[in-house]
Amino acid sequence: MKTIAIYPGTFDPITYGHIDIVKRGSHLFDKVIVAIAESKRKTPVFSLAKRMELAKEIFVDHGNIEITSFEGLIVDFAQQNNAWILLRGVRTLTDIELEFQLASMNHQMKPNIETVFLKSADQFANISSTIVREIAAMGGNLTPFVPPQVIAAFRQLKK
Ligand code: COA
Repeated sequence: MKTIAIYPGTFDPITYGHIDIVKRGSHLFDKVIVAIAESKRKTPVFSLAKRMELAKEIFVDHGNIEITSFEGLIVDFAQQNNAWILLRGVRTLTDIELEFQLASMNHQMKPNIETVFLKSADQFANISSTIVREIAAMGGNLTPFVPPQVIAAFRQLKK
């Protein structure tokens, strides 16, 4: 049986930190599904279609990485896709508290679904999409944090 992991998030925008976790996950599992949430509550800067397009471009050469969107509970989405693993990246100790809460709630809803954590690589441990958006809005250099496709997408937003 294939081991499928779901990597959920808003990805507004996707950063090198997310990309690192997905690629490392793709070496551990047969398939990683990057599941992009609409996250209306967060009022994303990039449309769901754009966030999907960027992720698809970035992982185009990776046969076992799939990009999709989802609505509703992540555990339901995982079950529909025969995926029993939720993959999450942990950047700092502060992340752990929220991640444990999410993992625990998800496990109580669907005990057959496990959350697997990967520690973020040190160089990406302080990146957040919010800070990336702030740097973009102020015209700062985004090169260390996001790939060129994302920088181009920010330029398009300004037009
Ligand atoms: N590298 C860089 N940044 C990272 C990162 C990493 N490895 N991991 C997380 N982040 C950042 C994200 O970019 C995001 O930054 P931002 O808040 O500045 O935009 C922040 O950390 C939080 O990320 P995350 O926890 O993934 O939140 P999210 O909003 O992107 O996604 C969902 C949260 C979608 C996974 C979660 O709300 C969910 O599962 N929703 C579905 C509904 C559901 O099932 N709810 C019940 C859950 S118990």
